[in-house]
Amino acid sequence: MTILIINGPNLNLLGIREVELYGHSTYQDLETFLKRHAEALDIKIEIHQTNFEGIVIDLMHYALHKSYDGIIVNAAALSHYSYAIYDAIKAIPIPVISVHLTDPEKRDESFRHRDVIAPACVTTYKGHGFDSYRLALEHLAKEVTS
Ligand code: DQA
Repeated sequence: MTILIINGPNLNLLGIREVELYGHSTYQDLETFLKRHAEALDIKIEIHQTNFEGIVIDLMHYALHKSYDGIIVNAAALSHYSYAIYDAIKAIPIPVISVHLTDPEKRDESFRHRDVIAPACVTTYKGHGFDSYRLALEHLAKEVTS
């Protein structure tokens, strides 16, 4: 089973950006965490980070062409307004789970309270830090093999 993991804008700055919200662990730490948990679940993963909306969409099309079994996406701020990503998720016959490190609904800025891509996804894990990704990996491991 191969899962594509897509991380969106500003996640490359984990460990530097708003540490009171996102913590001190770096993007590199996130990649290490993902590789460790994927290996334990016997899942192959390919991880990308991009600051560009169109690249998130291109990566979803790439997963389709490569016949990958699932996608985990943290579209970051794009989650709150990108109908193009919503359409891309609807367009591909691959289960997509969205994740957030924080719980955007519990944050102060009202623009975070709306997630326009979540309705296109199988489910969303949010507010668990890195564990949001672990929960998504475990979910896909069960969903794809059942
Ligand atoms: C985030 C939450 C978003 O609201 C924010 O724009 C991000 C990160 C998260 O993982 O908690 O960049 O997706």
